[in-house]
Amino acid sequence: MSLSHFLADDQCSQNQLIELINLAKQIKQSPAKYSQHLAGKSIVMLFEKPSLRTHVSFDIGIAKLGGHALYLGQQNGKLGERERVSDYAKNLSCYADAIVARVFSHKSIALLAQHASVPVINALCDLYHPCQALADFVTLSENLAALGKTQLQQLNLAYVGDANNVSNSLMLMAATLGVNFTLICPEQHQPETPLYTKAQQLAQQSGANFMVSHDIEALGAQDVIYTDTWISMGSNTKVNDILAKFAPYQVNHQLMKQAGAKQVMHCQPAHLGEEITTELFDDENRSVVFQQAENRMWAQCAVLTTLLSK
Ligand code: NVA
Repeated sequence: MSLSHFLADDQCSQNQLIELINLAKQIKQSPAKYSQHLAGKSIVMLFEKPSLRTHVSFDIGIAKLGGHALYLGQQNGKLGERERVSDYAKNLSCYADAIVARVFSHKSIALLAQHASVPVINALCDLYHPCQALADFVTLSENLAALGKTQLQQLNLAYVGDANNVSNSLMLMAATLGVNFTLICPEQHQPETPLYTKAQQLAQQSGANFMVSHDIEALGAQDVIYTDTWISMGSNTKVNDILAKFAPYQVNHQLMKQAGAKQVMHCQPAHLGEEITTELFDDENRSVVFQQAENRMWAQCAVLTTLLSK
């Protein structure tokens, strides 16, 4: 597969995504077979924002593939302040075989990729969280039988809440893969027009149904409902200022029942009692959040293996 970087969800074709999903499942099933795939390789993990799952799943995933991970927080100053992002990329390329980066602005990821001579992986930015979306489609693919389906294209997946980096990635990947996708969000919290338009085009190509609405009553029948925090990292919004606006969009047992949804997904960290109730998050019959968390590691192993196998 000819992938140079893993930056945004609409940069992968349907076939590339299917190959990554299948590879993630294979590595998960037989990790020992892949234990030397990154032997002798070093990967820099550059984080501008906090992280639990991304940091740990990359670090341990890289170790499982026989590679070496180096964590770089903000001890060298903010990205682009002490030295240019382009110089950061060129310097890191002298030592590392790949760069994993979690940044505030997508522009930084794009600049890193433009100037690095090694693959760059987006570990979350303001616009996308492609590693999360890939792990989520691995999870959905594993759960097809439990959802009464035989292929991803039969699924009805809804995202309810703030349109953000996680929903952008999910929306674009669903549209590419042909998964029916509904996004329900408050007014002024919809996806940005270029991303919405891109998803619409991709859905037309793949044959997926695609709908964005502010009306929670328009949710319709869904197999799976996904949500994420109402306020993302880096935002100055105070929760009390948006509670009333977002309250109708809380994902809870009642909403699951209304949609006939069997499973709920969340990328975590969850703000319990806000976008999702504690009862639903903890409901082992419906919540697949820890399966998603585990699959982060296998999905990222698939991305690293693919990018570094050339
Ligand atoms: N939308 C959230 C995702 C966290 C994994 C954020 O950007 O903070």
